Amino acid sequence: MKLNGVATRSVWLEPDGWSVGIIDQTLLPWQVVRLQLLSAADAAHVIASMQTRGAPLIGAVAAYGLALALRADASDDNLASAYDMLLAARPTAVNLRWALDDVSAFVRQHSRSDRVEAAYRRAAAICDEDVAINEAIGRHGLPLIEAIATRKAPGEPVNILTHCNAGWLATVDLGTATAPIYTAHDGGIPVHVFVDETRPRNQGASLTAFELGQHGVPHTVIADNAGGHLMQHGQVDMVIVGTDRTTGRGDVCNKIGTYLKALAARDNGVPFYVGLPSPTIDFALDDGVAEIPIEQRSAIEVTAMSGRTPDGRIGTVTIVPDGSPAANPAFDVTPARLVTGLITERGVIEASREALERTFPDHASRRHKREAAE
Ligand code: MRU
Repeated sequence: MKLNGVATRSVWLEPDGWSVGIIDQTLLPWQVVRLQLLSAADAAHVIASMQTRGAPLIGAVAAYGLALALRADASDDNLASAYDMLLAARPTAVNLRWALDDVSAFVRQHSRSDRVEAAYRRAAAICDEDVAINEAIGRHGLPLIEAIATRKAPGEPVNILTHCNAGWLATVDLGTATAPIYTAHDGGIPVHVFVDETRPRNQGASLTAFELGQHGVPHTVIADNAGGHLMQHGQVDMVIVGTDRTTGRGDVCNKIGTYLKALAARDNGVPFYVGLPSPTIDFALDDGVAEIPIEQRSAIEVTAMSGRTPDGRIGTVTIVPDGSPAANPAFDVTPARLVTGLITERGVIEASREALERTFPDHASRRHKREAAE
């Protein structure tokens, strides 16, 4: 996607050929600051602090984190301790473990002297694969938007509601939930996006609105609580969200608040789609509500808000009375029965174990191998 008119990925290898670049997403949309990661500890830190975030992107950054670790020390012990440190950075998105397992298995096939080069090669391939997956999600999601567009008056936009940021900034490029939107927009179909602000960290207001604006996609930021009302009044044609982990039976874990949008969508007959790249499927799990670990983040993300003051300063204000406690579960689970369809890189499928295993037999069998090894 374009950042100030220049095609930019969310993670890259610096010109020195070994350090890793990211955009500090905690400073967007006010400042575009690039960070240089020099070690696995740097990678773990930016994932935990959410300077880099989004399920596919934290997998890609963690993959480079292992390469940085091996560059310092290519031993098995160092590989294992870097793996543990990176895995502990965030608990919910399964892409993190997927990428760490993938790079670890790949480098273990190589002699110690070849491991660094192998890790960088595999991390770069994970990034390129992510982009290809998202392009395919865009292609498969496009007909869903086209079908709605044909029922509209000429020039009238298809109204799509999205939650959090499952866009370019949450992936290496293009995004998952946003891929069909960008594909439709670029193909000349009028689209308009309702962007949930996504409290408490406001990834919708600060990141999704930013990247849609950079790409020229018409959008309107709404308070998280507005979606149900808009759906009741026929102003939302479809919902497309991302996912941090989707279980083998199709339960979808995504940013807190997604479940409420799925309930409102079901009550109002609005189709609810999920952009699902295959590394986000966890075939080892079945019941998402019971089994997916939900990240509990700091209460301060709820009690305080950051933004730009009228005089241009970036500041943080407290919005609750002194002493009021706050809770901050960061994700929730939308049961498969509320999902109209999963937009995957291999097509749009039903949210069910049968459909997921039929579409991704190669991934499902990897799960069985892992279970046998455990
Ligand atoms: O806590 P975040 O900002 O990492 O959460 C991101 C989301 O919930 C996204 O919707 C999800 O990672 C899908 S990204 C393509």
